[in-house]
Order: sequence, then C-alpha cells, then structure tokens
Amino acid sequence: MSIHAVQELPADPRSMDHDALVRGIRRLKRERNAVLLAHYYQTPDIQDVADHVGDSLQLAQAADRSTSDVIVFAGVLFMAETAKILNPGRTVVVPDLQAGCSLSDSAPAGPFAAFLEAHPHHLVVSYINCSAAVKAMSDIICTSSNAVRVVNSLPADRPIIFAPDKHLGAYVQRVTGRKLLLWNGVCEVHVDISIDKLKLLMMQFEDAKLIAHPECPEPILAEAHHIGSTSSLIDFVQRDPGQRYIVATEAGILHRMRAAVPDKHLIPAPAYANNTCACSECPYMKLNTLEKVYRALDTLQPEIVLPEHISIGAERALRRMLSLG
Ligand code: 13P
Ligand code: SF4
Repeated sequence: MSIHAVQELPADPRSMDHDALVRGIRRLKRERNAVLLAHYYQTPDIQDVADHVGDSLQLAQAADRSTSDVIVFAGVLFMAETAKILNPGRTVVVPDLQAGCSLSDSAPAGPFAAFLEAHPHHLVVSYINCSAAVKAMSDIICTSSNAVRVVNSLPADRPIIFAPDKHLGAYVQRVTGRKLLLWNGVCEVHVDISIDKLKLLMMQFEDAKLIAHPECPEPILAEAHHIGSTSSLIDFVQRDPGQRYIVATEAGILHRMRAAVPDKHLIPAPAYANNTCACSECPYMKLNTLEKVYRALDTLQPEIVLPEHISIGAERALRRMLSLG
C-alpha cells in the first residue's frame, strides 16, 4: 500500500475530549440517520447533545413517531426495550446494556406469571418500568404521567393488579379511589430519599415548596405541594409563582429545571445514602456516558433484540396506553 493510500483509522472515543465527542456524535447521527433520545435523569452532557429529552411517556411517544433508521436510547433498558417494541423494524441501541432498573428487576417474569395465575379475574396495569416479558403479560401499560388516567379508563367492576411500583400504585389508589392489588416493588432511588433530612430542610427553608415524584413513599408525598412525573415537576416550577423548591426525585432532572427557571432556587432532596452529591442519583441511569453514546452510534451495539412473541404482547399493552393520548 502506498503512503497516499493509508486508510483513516476510526477515532477512538477514549482519546477524545468532550467537544470532539459531541462533534463525533453529531456526525454519526447524520451518517447513521439516527435519533438520540435521552431521559431527564441522564447527565447534562448527554441531554445537551440529544434530539429529544423527556419523561418516559414523552420518550415512548418520540420513539413511536420516529422515522430514523436507528434509535439510540440514553436511559435505562426498559425504555430502550419500549422503543424497540414500538419499532420492531428499526435498530435500537443503548449506551450500556447494564443500565437496568430496580423496579423492573423487582418483577421477574416467572413469579409475576404465577401471581397473575393466582388472580385470573384481575385486569393488569403495569408501570412502564418493567421488562418486556412483564409488559406482554399486562393488559395495559402506564407511566407516572398517565397512571391515574389509565386506571380511570378501566371498567369499574373489574379488580385491578398494579405492578411493579407499590408506591406509585398506592398513590394512584388514593387519587382514583379504586382498590388496587399492588405488586411489592420499589425504586431504590426514591425510597432512599430521607424524610428526616427532608423535614430539616423544610424547616430551614420555610418558603420552599416540596415537589415529588410519585415513586416516593407516602410520608414524602404527604408533605408535597405537587406530585408528578419528571415532566410534570418541570412544568410546575415554571407555572408556579414560588421562588424555592425542594425536588424529591433523581438529581438529573435539575439540569433541565435550572434551564427552565434560572432565577429560582432548586434544592435536591437529600438521600439517606452517603453519596458524593448529597442528592439522589440513579446508579443505572448514570452508567451512560458521552463516550458510550459515541460507541453505540459508531458500532450500532449493544443492540436491543426481543423475542417476537414477547414483542407482540408487549406492543398490544403499550399501544392501549398510547391510544389514550
Ligand atoms: P418519569 O416517567 O417521570 O420520567 O419517571 C421515570 C423513572 O424512571 C422515574 O424513576
Ligand atoms: Fe428505575 Fe428508580 Fe432508576 Fe427510575 S430512578 S430507572 S425507577 S431505579
């Protein structure tokens, strides 16, 4: 090979700085005809290079509308699986296959199937934070944005199983007045928010309003001025005339929230765990990095692959939710 014919070696993302990674990701998105979706809990650098940033419902809707050849899902595995279920013909990749979810893990398919068998007359509402196999066993899916609407859409004379988050389920039960049979799952991040430290903060900042995600346990929700999904919490601080908020959810949300209300004071709710940021961080969401996003776009790996029989059942349950609007 002559010196003029030396092929350009593919760039190694390990040797690239932040700006080079962002340029590389933008170039690869064009070359692959790819869309990058990112959840509000992703790190700011990933959110800033994404095409859509949103909550689980908004990202499922964005995936459903997508016409791109490739979807890169910067979130956790159940979110990427949802994108694949809605787009069986497209390539869906994730930055890190280990990015699971404690809620999803709390409902393994085998025990869940046995539970449903023991309650054959119940309708099954599953929170989107569950595996594709659990979705396939469900009648309808919900997210934290639409859980109340989904439960209210079901016939009043049918008993309902709600899985896997018992705290979201209990919240929906309180709001709708419907009796729900709850699966015993929790989000390890939201149950780690310390109610004692929270109460001290509320005494320190008496004018602060507590806003909370419904995955938080009831004692936290009982103190909250506003309860809602990640997008609902961001909307609230924009609409509300207050100046100071204690934010009881994963700290990644603060990036968008600060951009939305730069003059307001946002205080992350403190966690029990002695972590570095004194706030609540999801260890699964935080497995994703800009470098891994670059690699996923470059190699189109790790790719989400689902068995067809699971995909078909899960799509039916997801589309029932999406049809509610
Ligand atoms: P949202 O539906 O509010 O985005 O919540 C997703 C999630 O994983 C919360 O822990
Ligand atoms: Fe799962 Fe909780 Fe992490 Fe959300 S914050 S992805 S529910 S572990």
